[in-house]
Amino acid sequence: MAELRYNPLLDDWTMISANRSKRPDLKKDFCAFCVGMGKIKEDYSVYKYDNDFPILSLNPPKEDLPKGDFYKTLPSYGKCDVILYSSNHSASLHELGEDHIVKLVKLWEERYIELSKDEKIKYVFPFENRGEEVGVTMHHPHGQIYAYSQMPLRVRTEMDNAKKHYEKTGENLYKKIRDEEIKEEDRIVIENDSFIGFIPFFCEYPFGVYIMPKTDIYSFKDFDEKTRRDLAKILKHMQSAFDVLYQKSFPYMMCIYNEPINSEEYKDSKKYSLFHIKFFPPLRAKNSIKWNASSETGMWVAGNPRKVEETAIELKQAVEITKYLSVKEVNCMKSEYEKKYGDLSNAKFYFSPSRINLIGEHIDYNGGEVLPCAISIGTFALVSKNEDNILDIKSLNRNKYEKVKLENNIYDENLDWLNYPIGMIKYIGESGYKVGGIKGIIYGNIPNGAGLSSSASLEILIGQIINEDYNCGSIDKLDLIKLGKKTENEYFSLMTGIMDQFAIGMGRRNNAILINTTTLDYEYVPINFKEYKIVIMNTNKRRELKDSKYNERKLECEKALSIVNNYKKCDTLCQLDIDDLSALKDKIEDENVRNRFIHVVSENIRVKKAIKELKSGNILSFAEFLNQSHDSLKRYYDVTGSYLDSICDAAIDAGAIGARMTGAGFGGCAIALVKESDIDEFKLLVSKKYKEVTGIDCEFFISDIEDGPRKI
Ligand code: GLA
Repeated sequence: MAELRYNPLLDDWTMISANRSKRPDLKKDFCAFCVGMGKIKEDYSVYKYDNDFPILSLNPPKEDLPKGDFYKTLPSYGKCDVILYSSNHSASLHELGEDHIVKLVKLWEERYIELSKDEKIKYVFPFENRGEEVGVTMHHPHGQIYAYSQMPLRVRTEMDNAKKHYEKTGENLYKKIRDEEIKEEDRIVIENDSFIGFIPFFCEYPFGVYIMPKTDIYSFKDFDEKTRRDLAKILKHMQSAFDVLYQKSFPYMMCIYNEPINSEEYKDSKKYSLFHIKFFPPLRAKNSIKWNASSETGMWVAGNPRKVEETAIELKQAVEITKYLSVKEVNCMKSEYEKKYGDLSNAKFYFSPSRINLIGEHIDYNGGEVLPCAISIGTFALVSKNEDNILDIKSLNRNKYEKVKLENNIYDENLDWLNYPIGMIKYIGESGYKVGGIKGIIYGNIPNGAGLSSSASLEILIGQIINEDYNCGSIDKLDLIKLGKKTENEYFSLMTGIMDQFAIGMGRRNNAILINTTTLDYEYVPINFKEYKIVIMNTNKRRELKDSKYNERKLECEKALSIVNNYKKCDTLCQLDIDDLSALKDKIEDENVRNRFIHVVSENIRVKKAIKELKSGNILSFAEFLNQSHDSLKRYYDVTGSYLDSICDAAIDAGAIGARMTGAGFGGCAIALVKESDIDEFKLLVSKKYKEVTGIDCEFFISDIEDGPRKI
């Protein structure tokens, strides 16, 4: 028995279905949506499954007619699809790849279009119920689509109000709400090129996010490749953020609204409707549910127990941290913090990027110009003040708690990585700023020893924490950068230049930084590689700067400088030009010293030329300078080594237009400029070739160019 019964009080139809209550109790460990257990025989990525116990169907049974002639019924005509997100029983949407979620969007789209073809269908509604809190019994990742033969009351009400608003003002009410939220700004939580998510001013739920398109999308019919991908991205990111809020799978009802179909009344709905998604998450706090009780149900008067301007801040932080870290990583940091230090309410997340250098290698200690950028992998902290002057930190990477009193602050080999925070805090203190202890969790997703400057990232992270927690942000950025360098130079006796700390400290999204390492003047250079992308290639040949020949190179350069000064007065090698290079190189007898000289002077000239090409958008010519830089570092500076050489050769063979080691060399990472559409193929070719030559595996990162360090 299934039918629609008319509710005259609400002018709406109730779906009655006696057979749904006959759904079998699910056997333990049985899942109808898993391959091989129920009807599904073959593996799938996404799948439309016909509901086994549909409340609406294309062949509805005859209704039980009411006894009298007052009440009305209709056949339960319609369709109930189950949309399976993945064949993996325990995957969450956020764990699926972007390409995978694009397939899901396509499936919604196909089903919307298909179901809309039936003139008797008046509204198609894709949705997802997530979590037992909203009655989910099947834990396999899935959503549903209901195709109704009657326009549901909520949509009718919204459409009528939107239509009225349109007739009065000429405005589309949904776009008006969206634009007002954009204008007021403080409730916006998430955004990409095509969509924006906010908790609206009037929202009934603490975390009730609405996602709206920035352009004219009214239904799935209006999607294209870009908007499909952007919807996939925003859904993946939104769910990640939800899942770190309370460190658990966050329950919600996700409702997807398209414009009405097959409707005479709303045939002009493009004027006043808009595709959008509403999340209705039932939690008010970690373990308490915001029930729809008497007022909500009996009166339809919602009571939101939280101010949405405040919940938006919480959610925005969750969105921000999940830009960089997975749900698992964030939740691990949180639970480790809670386990050891208790209440999370005083703890704050911090992020400090790592860096790549595009060009200008080993010249930052020779007064040259360098072109690095900060990237979105880096070091993270979840910390709070420790007033008793103790560093009480757990590194998740080492899985070890460390406790050190900040007293003598003398370099101690046994303290290993803790020397970075201690050194940094020591020099900040000596510069007259307030310092003190920190407690909490530190975690880096920079591959270890990969030459992406995990050390500078950590120094600047600590600097940022001390700056915010103890000095209310009053320490100048450049001071922190210099203190980071001082930590390397004096605490670790490494004679490094200022490039790494500068690149990290001054990082700006989508910009490289052209740094004059003599004057410390700098300029942001917008990066637009057009159809090319930077691929970071890790040789997996570890190196620690302190064990490398870095200091030796620096001394060789000093030797070269003192020799050339006999012929031409200069403060740094990078003051010399191409004529000086030809005139002076033969004055240096020692072959090694001569070679270092050749590299340094020529690299500085290359940076200037490369920058010109980059600014004029000549990516191919820019890339050529990357190749020349690597070649010079190999021939004259002897810092590339066989692993970096092999990976760069393999990259060029695989179609990169430019490839070079980045950072100090002696192992670590290289970068390559690769056509975006070829990246998958590129990775396969390089891995194969690299393994053949070196016997070890390499790995790849595609990273965004990021802003500098900050509290999240
Ligand atoms: C390391 C140093 C930098 C710079 C590069 C090489 O990353 O920390 O100062 O010298 O090597 O360009």
